[in-house]
Amino acid sequence: MSRPKGLLAMCLFVTALIVLPVKAESIASFPKDFLDWPVVKESASLPADAVLPPDTSLFIQESVRAYSWINNGQGSPLTIRVNPNKLAEYQTHGPYSDGPTAVAVSEAQGIVWVTEHIGGEAVYGSYNRQGEDISHQHPTLQPTFCQSCHTTYKDICINGTCTEPVLEMYSE
Ligand code: HEC
Repeated sequence: MSRPKGLLAMCLFVTALIVLPVKAESIASFPKDFLDWPVVKESASLPADAVLPPDTSLFIQESVRAYSWINNGQGSPLTIRVNPNKLAEYQTHGPYSDGPTAVAVSEAQGIVWVTEHIGGEAVYGSYNRQGEDISHQHPTLQPTFCQSCHTTYKDICINGTCTEPVLEMYSE
C-alpha cells in the first residue's frame, strides 16, 4: 500500500507548491549611491495617533494607516531622492527609462524604499541602509503591497510615482 500513499504525498506536495505564497523579495535593485541623489521632497510617515483633517482623501488615509507602525508608531521624516539621470522624467512622472528611479528613505527606521523601472513598468523593493533586502520583515514592505498603491491608484501614482504628497493636507 505504499504506492498510493506516495502518490497522495506527491499530490499534497504539489498542492502546497501551488497554494503557498512565494517568499517576498524585493524586485527593484538597491541603488548603492542613493545618498548622492538629489533630494526632491521632504515628507513624513505620520505617527499612529495622527489626527487627519476630515476631508483627507482615501488614498492619503490608506498611506498614513499602512505605515503608522514605523518607528514604534511615532512617525518618521521621509526623504525622497531621485536618480540624477531621471530628474526630468520624474518631473513629468515618466515615461521612465530603465534602472532605479526614486527612493523614499524613512530616516528614523532606516528603511530605503526603492522604485525602479524595467521596460516602462514600475517595480518595488525595501532595503535597510546597508542594502539588505528587508521586504520579508513586514507585510507592508512586500513589493505586492507597494503595487496596491503605486500601481493601482493610476490617477494619483502615474507610471509608479505618486503625485499627492502626504503633508499637503496640512498646508491649506
Ligand atoms: C498606501 C499607499 C502606499 C503604499 C502601499 C506604498 N507607498 Fe510609496 N508612496 C506613497 C505616497 C502617498 C507617496 C508620496 C509621499 C509624499 O510625497 O509625501 C509615496 C512615495 C514613494 C516614493 C518616492 C517617489 C514617489 O513615488 O513619490 C517611493 C520610492 C516609494 N513610495 C516606494 C514605495 C515602496 C517600495 C513601497 C512598498 C514597500 C511603497 N512605496 C508602498 C504611498 C504608498
